[in-house]
Amino acid sequence: MGYEKLVFGKADVHALLREYGSPLYVYDEEILRVRCREMRNLMKYPHFRVNYSAKANTNVELLKIICSEDLDVDGMSPGEMYLEMKAGFTPDRITFIGNNVSRQELQFAVDHGILVSVDSLSQLKLLGEVNRGGTVCLRINPGIGAGHHEKVVTGGKKAKFGIAVEDLALAQEIAADFDMTITGLNQHIGSLFLEPDAYLSAAAFILDVAAGLPTVKMVDLGGGFGIPYRHGTEPRLDLVLLGEQLDRLVNDWVVDHRPITIRTEPGRYVVAESGALLGTVTSVKENYNTFFVGTDLGFNTLVRPVMYDSYHELSVVPPQERPYQEYDKPVFIVGNICESGDILAHDRVLPVCREGDAIIVHDAGAYGFAMASTYNSRPLPAEVLIQLDGTARLIRRAQTLEDLWRE
Ligand code: LLP
Repeated sequence: MGYEKLVFGKADVHALLREYGSPLYVYDEEILRVRCREMRNLMKYPHFRVNYSAKANTNVELLKIICSEDLDVDGMSPGEMYLEMKAGFTPDRITFIGNNVSRQELQFAVDHGILVSVDSLSQLKLLGEVNRGGTVCLRINPGIGAGHHEKVVTGGKKAKFGIAVEDLALAQEIAADFDMTITGLNQHIGSLFLEPDAYLSAAAFILDVAAGLPTVKMVDLGGGFGIPYRHGTEPRLDLVLLGEQLDRLVNDWVVDHRPITIRTEPGRYVVAESGALLGTVTSVKENYNTFFVGTDLGFNTLVRPVMYDSYHELSVVPPQERPYQEYDKPVFIVGNICESGDILAHDRVLPVCREGDAIIVHDAGAYGFAMASTYNSRPLPAEVLIQLDGTARLIRRAQTLEDLWRE
């Protein structure tokens, strides 16, 4: 460990904070493109496509890059679909994978010619009313779940998502009542796996289901591909091995059945490592033997540590060089929100911090800005892109106090 100066090994942290304010989200175009390509090349199977799951990050400038890397997208809401189209995704490259959505939201997708995936029989009926004679995807709950926290397990018997397999016959009847054709199946068992076993089992399962549904032309195996948030100790997900295993599974299926389009739905893997959150140390204190580093990085800017007890690596960046010193006991790094749970990291061994130092929160590109809020009426931070030539470009201005209120 030591003090840092640059973010992504490229851009001067204090220069960025001076120019764009603190806190600040920073993205690296090069890393984003590398991760897009890794996912795009996951399988060799010729009818393989990737749907970037945009809930992880919907900055339109990042979406443009992802679009240019030949990934398609998922949308969870009219807002996401609107931003995706703004970034250049044509409706045929978008799938609306909703959960408990309204008639108006379904209508939005249908009006734009966007394929809809429904995840209950009741939503299937509603879509039938909105789009009689159209096509539909069914989100299956395979009864298997996985994820880094119980709040992000989206498959299995206790999850609110998907149609249970025993209800598939009923789903076919409802689709027939509305002259709808079931052209796709999708699933998503949960977020962040580093061991691929559950993903592979679920993939085999949904392909089995597809075998019994001859109108199905596309199977989406879901997202959840993890990244190593703990640098140096957590291994990277072996995408080469996983790709080979998926290729084998799909090729065998195709030999036995028919050609089919295969999709995956990664969110985090595409954007997490290309983003960092920068902030500033505003105060330091020791209270009753606990050392607190106070920052402007409240859970309004990054909620993951508070919501899921998630771990993000942190670096400390002094404004001027100084000799390296480490705290002699683990410290708490906390934010500026009026709640005692506002803890960015607890029991961390860190370099000694002083007021005015900057903090880099690594791997904040997924579910960072996307889940940020204006809690305590703090405006949303700016977002900046470090482009391929190394220059920084503002890709979303920070909110101002005036933005906090619109009549
Ligand atoms: N597809 C569907 C239908 C999803 O619900 C999700 C994530 C994904 C794909 C993408 O999952 P990923 O590849 O990013 O794991 N806020 C949490 C993660 C929630 C994920 C919700 N659904 C976090 O910060 O860890």
